[in-house]
Amino acid sequence: MSNKVSIIGAGNVGSIVGYSLAMQGLAHEIILVDRDTDRAKGKALDMSHAASAVRSHSIVRAAESYEDIKNSKVVVITAGFPRKPGMTREDLLIKNAEIMKDVIANVKAYAPDAIIITVSNPLDAMTYVALKIGGFPRRQVVGMAGILDSARMAYFIYEKLGYGAGQIRASVIGGHGDFMVPLPRYSTVAGVPLSDLLSQKEIEEIVERTRHAGAEIVGYLKTGSAYFAPGKSTAIMVEAILKDSKQIFPCAVLLEGEYGVNNVVNGVPVMLGANGAEKVIEVTLDPCEREQFRKSTEAVKSMIDVLEKDFLKDVK
Ligand code: NAI
Ligand code: 2OP
Repeated sequence: MSNKVSIIGAGNVGSIVGYSLAMQGLAHEIILVDRDTDRAKGKALDMSHAASAVRSHSIVRAAESYEDIKNSKVVVITAGFPRKPGMTREDLLIKNAEIMKDVIANVKAYAPDAIIITVSNPLDAMTYVALKIGGFPRRQVVGMAGILDSARMAYFIYEKLGYGAGQIRASVIGGHGDFMVPLPRYSTVAGVPLSDLLSQKEIEEIVERTRHAGAEIVGYLKTGSAYFAPGKSTAIMVEAILKDSKQIFPCAVLLEGEYGVNNVVNGVPVMLGANGAEKVIEVTLDPCEREQFRKSTEAVKSMIDVLEKDFLKDVK
């Protein structure tokens, strides 16, 4: 089986995905595609040198054309514009949908069977665009956000506690936006429920900070958004697919009746394997969590409605 990985968009996030995979020696061949070919070339060469330094067998190459993504097992899409200060993920909607359309046409032409991991924002809507434009089965297109948002929540739990680093499991579902649904009830430190360790107020502060963690980083960086944790989180998904690990991660998938939702992409626990999103897991939500998930679904649906009205109107 091929373990070639192509990354469309060799910007900040795409570079960290490529670098992480190259350091792990997971993929034999990693292809970087960017509309700025020199950027892809420079980064590919630099990453190949790093791989060589650690004696990884991964070779990183810049694509001369989309033909070079042929036989990819996984295609990661990070092409798009990042958020600037004061800009919401939704502002990016149409701008990045145009880019996604162009990228998907090429993936469909050259790597039609690849598992596609979408990263570009607004994540849930872009995952929907990729699925609909490409006419792919839902298992084939999975969005990255839940691993990142859960990692952020876990870190904020650590900050509040001052201990437990590496032993924290946090859970965040829902869309990658202000309506994401952090689940303190399903978050633990070495198996100990959060409510045994922190007050309700402290937990609420963690939830709020998690929802705005992306914006917090944009506020510091000023000219772009986070990339280390997003890149690593994406590489974790690639690893699960290449290794057919059947591990469960929060990912954005098209819901087909699960959670009472139809034809909307949202973040839920998903089993990842060689076939992509192999299973959608339904966790039991209490009435408050259900209501938050409903609001989150509505927020994604409103973006999908905007896209369906014009951008996707001719797509069957
Ligand atoms: P960046 O600006 O550093 O990189 C984007 C790259 O895409 C650039 O190198 C650009 O030349 C390239 N590109 C643009 N249009 C292209 C096209 N048509 N074909 C090929 N390449 C093209 O941005 P960064 O920071 O890497 O972010 C990428 C995307 O990922 C943004 O939309 C950002 O909002 C999103 N993001 C999503 C996260 C998530 O959790 N889902 C987390 C972090 C970022
Ligand atoms: C983030 O959450 C901007 O979606 C990106 O960092």
